[in-house]
Amino acid sequence: MATSPSTWRTNARSFGRILLYQGDITRLDIDAIVNAANSSLLGGGGVDGAIHRAGGPEILEACRKLRAGHYGKGLRTGEAVITTGGRLPAQQVIHTVGPVWNGGHKQEPELLANCYRNSLLLAEKNELHSIAFSGISTGVYGYPKAEATVIAVREVRAFLDQHELPQEVVFVVFDEASFKLYEQELQ
Ligand code: APR
Repeated sequence: MATSPSTWRTNARSFGRILLYQGDITRLDIDAIVNAANSSLLGGGGVDGAIHRAGGPEILEACRKLRAGHYGKGLRTGEAVITTGGRLPAQQVIHTVGPVWNGGHKQEPELLANCYRNSLLLAEKNELHSIAFSGISTGVYGYPKAEATVIAVREVRAFLDQHELPQEVVFVVFDEASFKLYEQELQ
């Protein structure tokens, strides 16, 4: 059962075209949610697992097709692809592969920035109006949340300054600590 449109929106903090919302990204009825995938595109734990569980087999089927086609070797870190949202209240899922944190001297900041940029470009190309990001790389991949938040906000702000679409970007956080980091960065 999706969170009704009014519920999640009334519980989101608004900062202009950017919203901040604490909760389960699989419950949002929105044009697309951005999944923190891995290069196999075949599912995993964390938000990836939650999205596949809630979205059902159609999402995995669409990912398998991508693997059988252009993405034979999997999705590279920083790249993004789009699939159906399956049974999710979201129409579509943008899958992006974040960098694994390795101390910060292996291009992690640039690669994380690419995740946001490429997901936003894909949203614009598909004429999406509203997309929601999960905290790419900040779970299993160990990216320090404070640094990741700075990159996420910087990249989304820069993109929205130059582009009409997407009209709105939602940062979805799962915990209070992350909410506070985004709140500080967005204020
Ligand atoms: N809704 C919103 N956010 C969520 C949810 C959810 N249902 N579940 C987890 N999160 C948050 C986590 O708290 C974390 O801040 O998403 C962020 C990303 O964490 P991960 O899902 O662990 O993703 P990541 O760190 O990018 O690692 C990716 O983990 O799940 C596997 O297949 C995935 O191999 C890939 C790796």
